[in-house]
Amino acid sequence: MRSPIRFGNFDQSAAKGFTSVAQHVATLFDPSANWDDVARIRDRWKGPLAIKGILHPDDAAKAIDLGAEAVIVSNHGGRQLDHSPPALVVLPDIVDVIGGRGEIILDGGVRRGTDILKAIALGATAGASGRTFLWGLAAGGEAGVRRAIEILRLEMDNAMALIGVSALNALTRDHVRRKSASENARL
Ligand SMILES: Cc1cc2nc3c(=O)[nH]c(=O)nc-3n(C[C@H](O)[C@H](O)[C@H](O)COP(=O)(O)O)c2cc1C
Repeated sequence: MRSPIRFGNFDQSAAKGFTSVAQHVATLFDPSANWDDVARIRDRWKGPLAIKGILHPDDAAKAIDLGAEAVIVSNHGGRQLDHSPPALVVLPDIVDVIGGRGEIILDGGVRRGTDILKAIALGATAGASGRTFLWGLAAGGEAGVRRAIEILRLEMDNAMALIGVSALNALTRDHVRRKSASENARL
């Protein structure tokens, strides 16, 4: 934490610093990848398939239609593409279009157990997190990661007791207060 940020995977490459690492990573993505590739992977991989990075209901439906068991609603933690919407904002529309045909994992911005409860209340099967565990790892190694998981679990338990819900499947959209259009307009 006291030294400059470095990306171990790119130590040997010419990419240095945030901007050039981001530019280098962008060159590793294949922009011609499309749904035919998903179909091909589905054909070859017989285990469970989850497609990550879904932010649009049409893409969520397409992923499930092609045989994926789950979609991971995610903008990769907001570290890739400027202006992509937060996963939580697009989650309810994706839940509506999937309609129980597959699992929906909310990824990004989960910092507390309550964030997972909000995702489940809005219809997700589960919440996922990246940086929470990374920070646990940085602070305390494997034990730190275990502690981060434990903190999330305790926060979920505590919040469920406070809102009077004893099982995750009792959470409904009514447990989350969503801004009305007029409140949004005032912002
Ligand atoms: C250090 C780091 C490396 C990551 N590498 C990948 C990756 O290779 N592929 C990927 O799909 N997402 C990657 N992610 C994104 C995470 O899987 C996840 O989408 C994101 O961290 C969720 O947001 P959160 O950190 O707010 O929980 C990475 C995240 C971090 C922090």
